[in-house]
Amino acid sequence: MALTSDKLYLVASRLGPVAQKLGMRSVIELMSALRTNPKEATISAVIEAMVTHESLFFRDDRPFDYLEKTLLPALIAARGGRRPIRIWSAACSSGQEAYSIAMLIAERFPGWHWEIVGTDISAPIVTKASAGVFSAFEVKRGLSPERMARHFRRLDEQNYIVSDSIRKMVRFDTHNLLESALRLGVFDIIFCRNVLIYFDTPTKGRVLDLLARQMTPDGALFLGSADTVHGVSNKFVLAGNERGVFKPVSDVAKVA
Ligand SMILES: C[S@@+](CC[C@H](N)C(=O)[O-])C[C@H]1O[C@@H](n2cnc3c(N)ncnc32)[C@H](O)[C@@H]1O
Repeated sequence: MALTSDKLYLVASRLGPVAQKLGMRSVIELMSALRTNPKEATISAVIEAMVTHESLFFRDDRPFDYLEKTLLPALIAARGGRRPIRIWSAACSSGQEAYSIAMLIAERFPGWHWEIVGTDISAPIVTKASAGVFSAFEVKRGLSPERMARHFRRLDEQNYIVSDSIRKMVRFDTHNLLESALRLGVFDIIFCRNVLIYFDTPTKGRVLDLLARQMTPDGALFLGSADTVHGVSNKFVLAGNERGVFKPVSDVAKVA
């Protein structure tokens, strides 16, 4: 994360309680423990304190419109059913993005073979995503009453759960975007939205270069509305006129 000096208050306010909980006297002591003796539990507590998990269903509408009307029909025609179409929600938070994609596919393209993978650096949020349980407040953010009725059922007074058929379409795993994800395989579509904003430019470039290795040549990358590849990575170009959607540059073009 890009933590410039104007974000010092953020470090102090978020990591102070973590240091205290771990029985340390200060954030400085916590930092030094991370450097000299990085224990899994300490790393995880620090990540959890620093990340923002804000997400909602069908966030920004437009990418899902493009997916439904342009990208998926084109990919289905190109693949001709020879292999599943693979979609990755990278930095998926509690799974709203991955489940939105699954709902759209179940409604508009049933019967096709899909693989949807959601990943996030935070293990607790990945556990929440896999459970598919959302509060009444969360389901109201981005879902129409029709979608709620079709794809969710009431779990208890406060919570709803995603239907089994939608849950089966998505699998979740932990993954840090700064590491290789080759174990996840190659994807036709990657969503990596509202996470690059937290990184400095070289880190954004590193993440984008890693994502480029995981994409089919005719694949598409969706970034957040505040993100661009311009001046960050030469591995992607804008896909036509669609804002926020990028396609990988072929190796020949990259060399040129
Ligand atoms: C603001 S949420 C965005 C969720 C979703 N993509 C969306 O647009 O609604 C950002 C997510 O990025 C995750 N994240 C932050 N740094 C990460 C990293 N290095 N690797 C993977 N995920 C990361 C956070 O845990 C958080 O859940």
